[in-house]
Amino acid sequence: MDNKISFIGVGPGDPELLTLKALKKIKIADVIIWTDSLIPEKILDFSKEGSEKIKTSSLNLEQITSIMIEKFQAGKTVVRLHDGDPCLFGAIREQIEILETEKIEIEVVPGVSAFQVAAAYHKAELTIPDVTQTIILTRAGGRTGMPEKESLKDLAKHNSSICLYLSARHVKRSQETLLEFYPPETKVIVGFRVSWDDGWTSLIELKDMEKFSIEKKLIRTTIYIISPAINNSQKRSNLYNPSYKHLFRNK
Ligand SMILES: C[S@@+](CC[C@H](N)C(=O)[O-])C[C@H]1O[C@@H](n2cnc3c(N)ncnc32)[C@H](O)[C@@H]1O
Repeated sequence: MDNKISFIGVGPGDPELLTLKALKKIKIADVIIWTDSLIPEKILDFSKEGSEKIKTSSLNLEQITSIMIEKFQAGKTVVRLHDGDPCLFGAIREQIEILETEKIEIEVVPGVSAFQVAAAYHKAELTIPDVTQTIILTRAGGRTGMPEKESLKDLAKHNSSICLYLSARHVKRSQETLLEFYPPETKVIVGFRVSWDDGWTSLIELKDMEKFSIEKKLIRTTIYIISPAINNSQKRSNLYNPSYKHLFRNK
């Protein structure tokens, strides 16, 4: 039995994007509690025979944590799987707080987030010198409100790379706001169920974001990356510039 409960980021769906650490933990778990609405079932193919798999999509916080506490206290090795990286919109804090009141030790294993995979599929660098050096990971406000100072309008003013999670239902409003600050031709990577068997990504322009999303009936498991850096070859970096000397290349 492991003496702690592990919260494991399993990446966006492709099992090959699991970290070795995540894989090891899944393999030895007696009980796997998993976010079935966002994690494809084939991630569980690595689990050991006889392990118990519990879906969380129909459970509330108290039900989830009660199961974790009960199984852990019964001497089982318990893992909690989250899609992508747990620190991003994972609602892990509230689970961990309850478990810690039971004096249960917790470990968090990071994972690859959806935006990284969508960017990789398009060979995109989201930080190009003199274009943008900043990536904002955020969401459009919906039922979960946004802090006022983090409205999309305020964030868009920076003209940086913006990754919108959990925002497909709010694409109309998001596009309108972004168009106030970004040119209509700004490139947008849209990814649906990126790295799942039925997943895909597309490169479109900001002016078409809403229309495209409606055509593709996007409601959930969608990531948007809006960035002036995508397909922008304005300037090369200093890092590999022959005239730029640094610690590892000083001649
Ligand atoms: C509750 S959040 C969790 C994000 C996750 N922790 C991460 O790091 O990717 C769920 C949202 O993440 C995005 N997402 C997660 N997996 C995705 C995937 N495979 N393809 C596209 N978007 C994904 C979508 O915006 C989805 O609505």
